[in-house]
Amino acid sequence: MLKRLFNRPAKTHQVTIEPFGATVTVGARETILQAALKAGLAYPFECQTGACSTCKTQLIEGDIKPLTDFAYVLELDEMKGGTILACQSLAKTDLKIRVNTLDDGLPTIAARKFRGSVVSVSKLTRDIFDVRIALDESMNYYAGQYANLSIPGISASRSYSFAAAPRSQGCNELSFHIRLIPNGEVSGWFAASDRTGEVIEVDGPYGIFRLRQADVPIICIAGGSGMAPIKAMLEHGSELELNRSVVYLYGGRTQADLYGGAVIDTLTTAWAGPIRFLPVLSEEPEDSDWDGARGFVSDFIKSIDEFKFADAQAYLCGPPPMIDAAIPILTGAGVRGRDIYFDKFTDRSHNPT
Ligand code: FES
Repeated sequence: MLKRLFNRPAKTHQVTIEPFGATVTVGARETILQAALKAGLAYPFECQTGACSTCKTQLIEGDIKPLTDFAYVLELDEMKGGTILACQSLAKTDLKIRVNTLDDGLPTIAARKFRGSVVSVSKLTRDIFDVRIALDESMNYYAGQYANLSIPGISASRSYSFAAAPRSQGCNELSFHIRLIPNGEVSGWFAASDRTGEVIEVDGPYGIFRLRQADVPIICIAGGSGMAPIKAMLEHGSELELNRSVVYLYGGRTQADLYGGAVIDTLTTAWAGPIRFLPVLSEEPEDSDWDGARGFVSDFIKSIDEFKFADAQAYLCGPPPMIDAAIPILTGAGVRGRDIYFDKFTDRSHNPT
């Protein structure tokens, strides 16, 4: 009897996923997200820890077992309405679900693995490096998306945003901005010695952080290597000759955290419409030669007077405290929640160890 119990195959369930129109098999100890990715679906996700809500999903039919409390990132109304997090849900029955965050009809590019090799690693700020990776074949992505990089000998992959606009014919060389963090396995690996020619696996593209088409002003807010996807989006917008009005608030601690003038000049001069870049420093010594803005970027949102907040879209990328502070100020000033797009750097996403 016991033998029969232990030999019983683990129960699987069938999960139908819209808008993909796909049905995938989910194992007993497998999250819905893991099964969907294994099946090759371009399911939106970032942190995989229940922290970012990128994998928000509508449960239409069936029953799930949550692995964490969704209340950390979902509103009570959302949970009552059947919203779940795919990265934190096991299937208890067959399910029918819909990926909420794909509902605005964004086209997707199926993610897959590419073989790459390091071309160069060059310093951009005190602790951010521009890492160039050549691919064996060209890759397509949308500006704002990211890829998972796997380095030989380091167990888990790390996620980094593409830091340059994609080429229409696909990209054979990728750029990522990697911040060196204390005891960071991956960032330390890049900084430790000359990595030119080292082989790296690039898995992507992923993510739904992208410039939405609309003839409305744009507010960009970034901190640290959050510059990367915003830079890619603005470069892409420049190539499309968008003349939307842009205000870009960029936060750092001191002048050593600021990107060189050439990066910013290139971004702003290429943009076809009005654009203002405002760097804001939170820990710059009082007696330094800095005569720019001091404080947190969120302190300067209300100084935007180029356009009406109610007409604008906002794109935020950087550490969670920066984004958490900025969103209520944006909504309080009149930006509609549906027009705020953000990419939080969580432990496994963009700000890896
Ligand atoms: S909450 Fe699921 S991927 Fe972040």
